[in-house]
Amino acid sequence: MKVYKMVAPCMFGVEGILADELKRLGALNVKSENGRVFFEGDCNILAAANINLRTAERVILIVGMFKATTFEELFENTTHLPWEDFIGSKDAFPVTGYSISSQLHSVPDCQAIIKKAIVKRLSGKYSISWFEEIGPVHKIRFSIQKNNILVGIDTSGEGLHKRGYRANSLLAPIKETLAAAMCYTARIYPDTMLYDPFCGSGTILIESALMAKNIAPGIRRYFSAEKFSEEFKTAFAAKRKEAIDKIQQNVEFRAFGSDIDKAAVDLTLQNAKKAGVSDVISAKACDVKNFVLPEDRMLLITNPPYGERLLDIENAQKLYSVMGEKFERLQGKKYFIISPNDDFESFFGRPADKRRKLYNGMIKCQLYMYFKNEFRK
Ligand SMILES: C[S@@+](CC[C@H](N)C(=O)[O-])C[C@H]1O[C@@H](n2cnc3c(N)ncnc32)[C@H](O)[C@@H]1O
Repeated sequence: MKVYKMVAPCMFGVEGILADELKRLGALNVKSENGRVFFEGDCNILAAANINLRTAERVILIVGMFKATTFEELFENTTHLPWEDFIGSKDAFPVTGYSISSQLHSVPDCQAIIKKAIVKRLSGKYSISWFEEIGPVHKIRFSIQKNNILVGIDTSGEGLHKRGYRANSLLAPIKETLAAAMCYTARIYPDTMLYDPFCGSGTILIESALMAKNIAPGIRRYFSAEKFSEEFKTAFAAKRKEAIDKIQQNVEFRAFGSDIDKAAVDLTLQNAKKAGVSDVISAKACDVKNFVLPEDRMLLITNPPYGERLLDIENAQKLYSVMGEKFERLQGKKYFIISPNDDFESFFGRPADKRRKLYNGMIKCQLYMYFKNEFRK
């Protein structure tokens, strides 16, 4: 079977987790870079990556990588790539991309040149000058980083964070891929007891439930590569079936959410239902100041409000102090809290046992981890 080179972009800070996910799927030559992970594999790996990866933003099949500092070099190098191996004479191929720290910095110009170069290549191969673009869509993605060009075909379509369970969202939902990265770091087991006292639309609860039940995040959605060829279609069908067979419905795992906003609680319950995990998730309206620590062991993963304006920031800081009082350091209790506030630990009242830098979109955050157990004095 043909082996493809692929790249999966991810949020900064998540590369190591994503690389582990890929290795577990059997991907070859897995290599992390800032904000993306390269790997290789056949169409089964491509399908498995799309269906199973929890922390990748998308999967791109690499058509070529080269250096270019002028439009001529960009054009010439792009025309030399085997686009006809992927794009049929009737297929659509819109081009999008970005450029960072490079001489070729005008994205619209690069977009137009790459499109022109692909048209030139395909015109020669198919002996046509006009492309109707009425067939399957092959979204061409390019990245230009320090004059290094990568051009490829998007195999995912909609971003992989779109699991299909969150039609409705509140003001500040955490991205599914970031919630999954937090859950990986905190480690979810089939018997974990999870709490999120700022559950919002329930993303952390749902992502952790999907992990506990071994439900692949992409099991109920469509990927653009399914239309690329019969071989790809068959690979996706086989990998989807494999993922369904691996689901463990009977787990002890339970997730409990609370939020001061009753509408958020209702949304959590609706989203949990859509994700097929409502049997292990419960939620109720509660101010964190009334949060009661359960007697049993528990894992708390949460994304508290952080505020953007001064008044909101002050309120958020007061909440961090309340959390510090409520979330006692006790045997069997672990806390994983994400916040962009550099002074979080001083408001919370104690330094974290460990920190991990993660990005919530463009916002630099830390995942503050408290897991070293101490008995109450
Ligand atoms: C950043 S959002 C959490 C978003 C959530 N992770 C999601 O994916 O939708 C913070 C949440 O904290 C809730 N909140 C604010 N103050 C609270 C309080 N005192 N007690 C409990 N929840 C509170 C808000 O209603 C909001 O839903």
